[in-house]
Amino acid sequence: MNAPSFVNRQWFYVKRPEGRVGPEHYELRESQLSAALAHNEVIVQAHYFSVDPYMRIQQHQRDTYDVPHPLDIVQQGGVVGRVVASASERFAEGDWVYGYNGWQLYAKCHANELTKLDPAQAPVTTALGVLGMPGRTAWFGLMEAGRPRPGDTLVVSGAAGAVGSLVAQFGKRAGCKVVGIAGGADKCRFLTERLGLDAAVDYKAFADVEGLAAEIQRVSGGVDVYFDNVGGRVTDAVIPLIKRRARIVICGAISQYDGGLDTPDLAPRFLQHMLFQRATIQGILARDFLLRMPEMVAQVAPWVKNGEIVFEETLVDGFEQLPAALGSLFEGRNLGKLLVRA
Ligand SMILES: NC(=O)c1ccc[n+]([C@@H]2O[C@H](COP(=O)([O-])OP(=O)(O)OC[C@H]3O[C@@H](n4cnc5c(N)ncnc54)[C@H](OP(=O)(O)O)[C@@H]3O)[C@@H](O)[C@H]2O)c1
Repeated sequence: MNAPSFVNRQWFYVKRPEGRVGPEHYELRESQLSAALAHNEVIVQAHYFSVDPYMRIQQHQRDTYDVPHPLDIVQQGGVVGRVVASASERFAEGDWVYGYNGWQLYAKCHANELTKLDPAQAPVTTALGVLGMPGRTAWFGLMEAGRPRPGDTLVVSGAAGAVGSLVAQFGKRAGCKVVGIAGGADKCRFLTERLGLDAAVDYKAFADVEGLAAEIQRVSGGVDVYFDNVGGRVTDAVIPLIKRRARIVICGAISQYDGGLDTPDLAPRFLQHMLFQRATIQGILARDFLLRMPEMVAQVAPWVKNGEIVFEETLVDGFEQLPAALGSLFEGRNLGKLLVRA
């Protein structure tokens, strides 16, 4: 007798975008996933999908920190789901798990590829946000490369997003004065009223770099640490404001992801200013800190459990919405971590 099977649905990445990514670059396919399991195999049903800017970085033509994402494979990405079949002693049906299973409703995984989650400790979705890759990026990026000291002024771009909102709060906890930069009055209110930042700047309210820079200077008084998630004109505005021995942390450049990574990085030259201020600039990558994940979780999980940190999530309902949700990151429609619920 044949083993029963699961009706699987998978989003295949089929066309390289030139500009904004959207549903036209993906194809939804249905297939059967056999329930037959080898020793240590587990089948996971996806409940929450992570939608991340790096997915668009991987769609560029040139090598970045990844080789370009090949066409005609299931879109990769982090997933939180439940075990629906298990041939592993470590996982039972019903267990919540995290895996890098990609955009598909069911995945057959080796037990070693999965992390068991305890819903009594933290909401399971935090494994894709504050206690997952964005949390790791924010924690190590700020603490190791930003090296914040009490009394420093920290400026964070993309401050209302998954990584930025955590960096901003970690900075406050480290005793910094924190200024967040985000798009729109609502996000700026979120930064000052919910996250308790010292000031917020709406970069969309300024048509030119000079006006934006003047406002950031006015509210910050100069910058000791700049944590950059967006690049482009926001960063052009901040870099001239750095103070002596400032640390600039390059985490991302989302303003350039609509195809811009395939062209030269054009910006004002700032190296002389780096010299005069004896500043440092450092790129950081979450995966370089993968093995130190337990350090970050030991520090941040108690704050999550005690409600001492805000970890906003934007939940989009429907597996069909995944490609559109990815595109929406570049329009700023998310507050905090963007997730799609199956
Ligand atoms: N280096 C690493 O290991 C690593 C790891 C994770 C993330 N990252 C990077 O960190 C950044 C944030 O990632 P995330 O996951 O936290 O995403 P996110 O900030 O939650 O979402 C993206 C946000 O970027 C802002 N944005 C979009 N287009 C923009 C533009 N043209 N100019 C300025 N802001 C723009 C939007 O906010 P507004 O409404 O404020 O415009 C949007 O909500 C990205 O650059 C990402 O690539 C790097």
